[in-house]
Amino acid sequence: MNASPSRFPPDFVFGVATAAYQVEGHIENDWSEWERAGRVRHVAGAGVDHWNRWHEDYQLTRELGATAFRMSLEWARIEPQRGRFDDAALDGYRRRLVAMTEVGLRPVVTLHHFTHPTWFHRETPWHRPESVAAFRRYARACADVLRGIDAVVLTFNEPMVLLLGGYVQGVIPPGIADPRLAMPALGNIGRAHAAAREELLTHAGRVPVGTSQNMLAFSADRAWNPMDHALVRLADQAYNHTFLEALVTGELRMFMPGLFTTRQVLEGARDSLDFVGVNYYTRAHLRFVGRPPYLEFKYRDPLGRGLTDIGWEVYPEGFTQVLLSTRRYGLPVWVTENGIDDRVGTRRSEFLWRHWDSVLQARAAGIDVRGYLYWSLLDNFEWLEGWGPRFGLYHVDFATLERRATPACDYYRSVALDRELRPPREIALPLRAPAPVAATG
Ligand code: FCB
Repeated sequence: MNASPSRFPPDFVFGVATAAYQVEGHIENDWSEWERAGRVRHVAGAGVDHWNRWHEDYQLTRELGATAFRMSLEWARIEPQRGRFDDAALDGYRRRLVAMTEVGLRPVVTLHHFTHPTWFHRETPWHRPESVAAFRRYARACADVLRGIDAVVLTFNEPMVLLLGGYVQGVIPPGIADPRLAMPALGNIGRAHAAAREELLTHAGRVPVGTSQNMLAFSADRAWNPMDHALVRLADQAYNHTFLEALVTGELRMFMPGLFTTRQVLEGARDSLDFVGVNYYTRAHLRFVGRPPYLEFKYRDPLGRGLTDIGWEVYPEGFTQVLLSTRRYGLPVWVTENGIDDRVGTRRSEFLWRHWDSVLQARAAGIDVRGYLYWSLLDNFEWLEGWGPRFGLYHVDFATLERRATPACDYYRSVALDRELRPPREIALPLRAPAPVAATG
């Protein structure tokens, strides 16, 4: 039975999301190397000291009425040199996972959230086949950390973002601006996912294994322009679905003219997803241009709702759309990230309301959405944007590292505990009620 449109069922999971490099502090990896080389304006440094304050952070999560906590294991802590595994790091993560379950939080554990040990790109980069065995060895160590724990596991976070940033634009590590290497790299990431899943199922127990896919709603920048519409169809397939389809069919078939095209068999990857992990933030408007890569990408605010602090459109209708588009997989869905950067803190409750409504709409249309993890529990280090954006349900004073509840915490708690989706008391955004959207799956 579907939920009624305004209620979440008792087994629907409310949680929060984090990632190691953005919160833990003092990690030496390819990003810290990138920072030292002056490639970015900000440094993660001490993060928000989550490596030491994890206990407090789990308590803050429980105070939201949440029962799941997404974290990532930092490969560079676990295997700082190739083949040398660090017992203290492995024990440290194990203790945190056990403690998390003891306070009533189900761990959602990402093995790879953008960062790598520094040796990785030099010795076994993703475009080389040896990368798969390297990731398998690391996953074997992760399986020991996870043994017997009732977790949900994500092998990779947003492989398309890693690929476009790291292999096409070259703005994040490994900084390779060579699209010809991007498709071999994506193929190996798919193979590495399958290898990791095998290690987990053999050595950790029967954990559900998936990936987190960054999914964008796409619209034609010029409603009258058929080329813009054609781009929307291509981009939706290439960016949102091709990688997921590869993990279901065992074949990577990418077709993005002018950018990349590939057809590869991914050994072992067929039926290697137990669920689909969706990260959704915004909509992109695409415009066809007459020179490679034939596409211009922008965030706009056609509905006049006001862009977020870093310039993203608030577009819950697109969330319903991307959730419905997962129908083709016939798999359970976890929302592994969704959130708003809101420095002042007055827009977050309404954002939650609208996006939770999208989840309920998708559920009512038959999509088996099992849980929702808000990005993020805390303000944290936002990659290329550094310390500017504030996504946290808890505000963090970056000087004292003190955590303070934003107004959205009360709203989050009331819905997570009552299960009834009521509008928040303060509505700051000029949002219209989400229009029903046609299924695209
Ligand atoms: C996602 C990333 C996450 C965070 C949010 C804002 O793309 O997975 O680490 O940076 O965006």
